[in-house]
Amino acid sequence: MTTPVLFLLNHTRPLQKTLGVLGDLCRDRDLWSIQVWVCPDEELLRLVTPAGWEALTGHSVVSERELPKYLEQKPLAVLCQSWRKELASLLAHSGVPVLILGDELPPGLPPGSAALPEFDAMEILQRLEQLASPQDFAGKTVLVTAGPTAEDIDPVRFITNRSSGKMGVAIAWAAAMRGARVLLIHGPMTTEVPDLPNLERFPVRSAQQMHDAVRQHWQEAQVAVLCAAVADFRPDYYVPQKIKKIEGEGMVLHLERTPDILAELGAMPNHPFLVGFAAETDDVEINALNKLRRKHCDLLCANDIRKPGSGFAGDTNQITIYAPDGTVLALPMLSKQAAAYRILEEIAKRI
Ligand code: C5P
Repeated sequence: MTTPVLFLLNHTRPLQKTLGVLGDLCRDRDLWSIQVWVCPDEELLRLVTPAGWEALTGHSVVSERELPKYLEQKPLAVLCQSWRKELASLLAHSGVPVLILGDELPPGLPPGSAALPEFDAMEILQRLEQLASPQDFAGKTVLVTAGPTAEDIDPVRFITNRSSGKMGVAIAWAAAMRGARVLLIHGPMTTEVPDLPNLERFPVRSAQQMHDAVRQHWQEAQVAVLCAAVADFRPDYYVPQKIKKIEGEGMVLHLERTPDILAELGAMPNHPFLVGFAAETDDVEINALNKLRRKHCDLLCANDIRKPGSGFAGDTNQITIYAPDGTVLALPMLSKQAAAYRILEEIAKRI
């Protein structure tokens, strides 16, 4: 489903800038499930014809006369390029949140309205996503672990795995959109972390560092989603100089176990609502149920990494959620963002 948003445009800013932001919004509209409608003022309509606006947005322009009728259809938000006093009463009574692309928020606008002094398309899209999300995690702190860990052998070599961190970042993002304060503890990963005021990042490198960061912060959280692909083994000895190869000789690497962060947290009295992940290649259900019980999780999300589209670095995932009461919820193949939303819905029902 896509949600309509309306952009009220006038010629108070350079046209190039207006078209730039609008172009970015329209380019990403499918990704963010929005439809962009515009209501340009007379002057802008002289500079760009209605057909031009329609080519850009995919929708015919909304005239000022049609505004009241359009607002009755309850778009997600009205974006105001600058405040227009003559529309104040109409917007105030519409119930539709208004995003002012400027410094000041006039009084009396519907709940959810905000001023966005820095208004690039990304900031606007984040606000829209927030408006579209239920605020069921407001007042809660959610701790998320994400990405791989790296276990150093010597200053140049290390052991790691294929985790991209995308699933964990998607969970962190979705929780932040639903109003949570998010503590994201992540290993070395290439996935970008969005810059959000309610998302704090704690970058770490090794399983031990991730363990220590979780220990430091878990008491602040009501929910912990441990998504990281923590290395199970690390070299039992770190060699501070680069290990030299010796002609004709191999090398034996001794590995020891890393701390199991999830199991340790599950064993704590009063632990947060605990969600574990299990990436499996065989006997997915048996392994998932085992992990759920053994690590005292409140939910366990399992995926079969042999299935196409369900692997480590991709953008999609097919997850089955197991609960201790025997509930099994098999989600379809979804984008990692959509899967994250579904997982949070299941958490919200239980906290
Ligand atoms: O036993 P396995 O590693 O498959 O369990 C996966 C789950 O346990 C994931 O939620 C992962 O983040 C967590 N885990 C952990 N610490 C470890 C190993 C796994 O928190 N050392």
